[in-house]
Amino acid sequence: MNRPSNRIAASFAPTPWSLAVEAAREAGEVPFDLTVTNPTRVGFAPSHDDAAVIAGALGDPRSFAYEPHPKGMPSARAAVAAHYARAHGLDVDPERLWLASSTSELYAQLFMLHCLPGDEVLVATPGYPLVESIAALTGARAVRYPLCFDGAYSHDVTAIEEAITERTRVLVCVSPNNPTGNALSEGELEAITSLCDAHAIALVVDEVFAEYVVEGALDPERIRTTALESRCLCWTLAGLSKSALLPQMKLAWAALSGPEMLVASTEARFEHVADTFLSASAPVQCAADALLDYGARTRVGVLARLRENLTRARSMLDGDPETGASVLFCEGGWSAVLRLPAVLSDEAWAERFLGEGVLVQPGFLFDFDRDARVVVSLLAEPETFAEGLSRIAAACRRELQR
Ligand SMILES: Cc1ncc(COP(=O)(O)O)c(C=O)c1O
Repeated sequence: MNRPSNRIAASFAPTPWSLAVEAAREAGEVPFDLTVTNPTRVGFAPSHDDAAVIAGALGDPRSFAYEPHPKGMPSARAAVAAHYARAHGLDVDPERLWLASSTSELYAQLFMLHCLPGDEVLVATPGYPLVESIAALTGARAVRYPLCFDGAYSHDVTAIEEAITERTRVLVCVSPNNPTGNALSEGELEAITSLCDAHAIALVVDEVFAEYVVEGALDPERIRTTALESRCLCWTLAGLSKSALLPQMKLAWAALSGPEMLVASTEARFEHVADTFLSASAPVQCAADALLDYGARTRVGVLARLRENLTRARSMLDGDPETGASVLFCEGGWSAVLRLPAVLSDEAWAERFLGEGVLVQPGFLFDFDRDARVVVSLLAEPETFAEGLSRIAAACRRELQR
C-alpha cells in the first residue's frame, strides 16, 4: 500500500459533536442555524442586475489572451489598490500587491517561502483552525500563542515572545481575529513588529475582516491596515471572499511591506513561488474592479446586519441578568462570542441549544481555554438570529433556575 503523508491527520473520525450535528440536520431539526458564514445563503447573493454586470466583466475579451504575470494582472492590482483607497482612504502601491485564488492559498505560498519542513509558524489561540492545517500541509508546524483575556481579547506580546524559538519563521495575526473579533492596536503592532524585526520573523497579518468594524469604531487606537508600511517584513492578506462577499469568485491578495532591502530580496524569491502557481484566473482578474465595486455597495448592508444582530444579542443576554450570559466585546468580524454560565461546558451548552433547534459553534472548535463559550455568526438572517438568541436565552434561564 502506498505510504500516506504525515502532513494529513492520521484519522478523520467524527467527534461526538459532529455526529450530533449531522443527526440533527438529517432529521431536519436545525431551523435556526447560527453558524452560517456563507454570504450567498443569507440574502447577500448578487441581485439579477448585479449578476449581469459581474457576468459582463467576467466575459471581458482580455481574458482570452494569456498574459501571465507572477504578481497578477496590472489592471487587477490597480483595482485592489483602488479598493484600499475607497475602503480605507489609503494609497497602496499596486507594485507591492500579489494576487492568488484565495487567502488560504497565499498562506500556503508564504509558508513555502519562509519555512523549511519543521519550521514554526505562530498562530493565535483562540482562533480559526484553518492556518494550522495549512501549515501542516506545507510541512511547517503551527505553534500556538495565547491571546490575553481581561474582559476582552487582545494580543499579548509577552506571550508571543515566549512562544518564539530558533525555528520560528512566521508570526500570524488575524485582525480582526476570527472568532474573538479583536483587532491589532497601534501599541500591539509596534511591539509585534519590533519583535519580528529582532528575531527575523516574517509577520503575516490576515485582514480579511478589516472592513467589518462592528463595535471597534469607538477605538482610536485601531489600526486600519498593515498593507502600507511596517517596521518588519510584513504580508497583509485579504480577498474577495469577505471584502466582496463572493467566496466562490476566488481572488485574494497579499500586500508586502517592510524595510526596503528586505522587501526587495523577498520579492525576488516570492516571484518564484507565485510564478510556479499563477493561480488567479484571468476572468476574475479582469472582473476585479466590478467585483470590488459590488463588494463596497454590499458591505453597507452586511455591516448593518452585523450591528443589528449584535445589538439583538446584547439586549437578550446582557440585558437579562436571569440568563447569566453575556456577549463579549466585538471589535470586528462576522462572529460574536457568547459567555455562558459555567454550570455546563461549551459542548454541553451547544448540545442543549441543538435540542432547541439552534446550531452554534462550541468554543472548543476554536480552542477557547475557558469553558462555556460559544460562537454565533452575526451574518445570519435577522429573524433566524432573533429566534435563535431567544431560545438560547430561555435555555440559559431554565438551566440557572434548576
Ligand atoms: C480569518 C480568515 N482568514 C482566511 C479565511 C479564508 O479566506 P479565503 O476564502 O480567501 O481562503 C477565512 C475564512 O473564513 C478566515 O476566517
